[in-house]
Amino acid sequence: MTDSTIFSRGFAGEKLACVFSGIQPSGGLHLGNYLGAVRHWVSLQDCSERRFYCLVDCHAITVSQSSLRDQTLSMAAALLACGIDAESSVLFVQSSNPHHTELGWILSCVARMGWLQRMTQFKEKAGKDREQASVGLYVYPVLMAADILLYGTTHVPVGDDQKQHLELTRDIAQRFNHGCGKEIFSVPTPFIVASGARVMSLRDGSVKMSKSGSSAMGRLDLTDGLDEIALKVRKAKTDSTVLPSEEAGLEGRLEAKNLVGIYAALREVEVSEALRDVGGMSFSKFKDVLVDVLGEVMVPKGEEMRRLRADEGYLMEVLKKGGEHARALSEGRMERVRRAMEFLEVD
Ligand code: AMP
Ligand code: TRP
Repeated sequence: MTDSTIFSRGFAGEKLACVFSGIQPSGGLHLGNYLGAVRHWVSLQDCSERRFYCLVDCHAITVSQSSLRDQTLSMAAALLACGIDAESSVLFVQSSNPHHTELGWILSCVARMGWLQRMTQFKEKAGKDREQASVGLYVYPVLMAADILLYGTTHVPVGDDQKQHLELTRDIAQRFNHGCGKEIFSVPTPFIVASGARVMSLRDGSVKMSKSGSSAMGRLDLTDGLDEIALKVRKAKTDSTVLPSEEAGLEGRLEAKNLVGIYAALREVEVSEALRDVGGMSFSKFKDVLVDVLGEVMVPKGEEMRRLRADEGYLMEVLKKGGEHARALSEGRMERVRRAMEFLEVD
């Protein structure tokens, strides 16, 4: 049984040792982030010993950003509104702990060009004009490996678009450990749940819902009120057949599959179970049902987010404490890495 299956069924009382995950403050939190990652971060708070949730601003600057400071504070407010508890989990900004970029450089000397050349996210993000992409965008997965490996992470809850980066992280950890003959890094396990792992655009079932890529009409943002949600869902692309009662009936119907997947993930049930409720419905009926569930789950979080965003003093306090905590906890491993590299200790 894989870890993700165990997670979707709930743990049998046993706690995960160390969870780490990150999100880019490069736009608002959308439904894909929530269903693919953040809601799992919240539930993992009850079944893990230690948790680090990181606003990865150094990753965000791999493409140009216009209001990073504002977006970082807004993303912190969004995570808190979704239920991240900054008392029991370490919520922090990546750039506030310089060990991330320090380790990132060292690991970029461990990772091989051939490994990075296989990364599909770079190909998607760089697009056709690869020559103009930043070098940072290319080495981005190495910095992600540093994030994860600094804290002795055992589990990384992410959507399935990040699976390849996690495999790379495992390769880097193993190569480093093997190279110095010591177990300095734990080899982490990806933690990808089946339901909601990839939410697609409401306008095109073949592209992922994302902060930048898909159009605003294709994306449901945490800040959307009920009216905006209803408008976007009503305009969502569908086909002309009623919903099937069996999962096999969704094959090849990308948009229908996406909307039912969203409904199932919000209700926290399997797709087959969701189809027992909604199978046979026309899209116009099903869209009303979906808007209701979205309103119940997302709207209160959006309101709480706005309230928290207005209290900048509180957000700064939380992030300052988180950054100090993170740095103190990564110092020991960073020192072991420096020693393993045989860097001359000059002070
Ligand atoms: P990002 O928005 O790229 O910073 O991603 C933050 C987290 O949300 C990562 O764990 C992603 O895997 C997850 N995520 C992003 N977009 C989606 C999506 N459309 N569906 C499911 N998960 C997603
Ligand atoms: N690359 C991730 C994304 O785009 C964000 C991220 C950066 C991350 N560092 C991480 C996720 C460490 C998990 C663990 O979604």
